[in-house]
Amino acid sequence: MILLCRKEDLAATGAKGLVLGEGEDALEVVVVEKSGKRYAYINACPHQFIPLETFPDHFFAEDKKHLICSGHWALFRLDTGLCVEGPCRGDSLDKLAIVEQDGAIYLNEARTPAEIARAKRTKRNW
Ligand code: FES
Repeated sequence: MILLCRKEDLAATGAKGLVLGEGEDALEVVVVEKSGKRYAYINACPHQFIPLETFPDHFFAEDKKHLICSGHWALFRLDTGLCVEGPCRGDSLDKLAIVEQDGAIYLNEARTPAEIARAKRTKRNW
């Protein structure tokens, strides 16, 4: 398991952005909290494959119910990553398996972050 963040890291904005690895193997991740539950996604908008946020750890739309992409304002459900409004409506952020232990949130995927990052990049279609 790989440490993503501690629960208190989510207190300020409800979300935490982080990068695992470097270069071509870098995996950008966002961890979000809603109603006492936490979720993690690859931080890449399905529309143009860019990170969602403009300012560090600011991922929430004004309604506090969705993540928002700062590119073209796509809105994503917190619990599933489904895009419900915007140019990639119907697509989803890639959900990552996590486990919580002793106040911390860990990545709990069979693949390494580098493997996940490479697989994601192969899906980019431009
Ligand atoms: S890049 Fe995210 S909505 Fe366009």
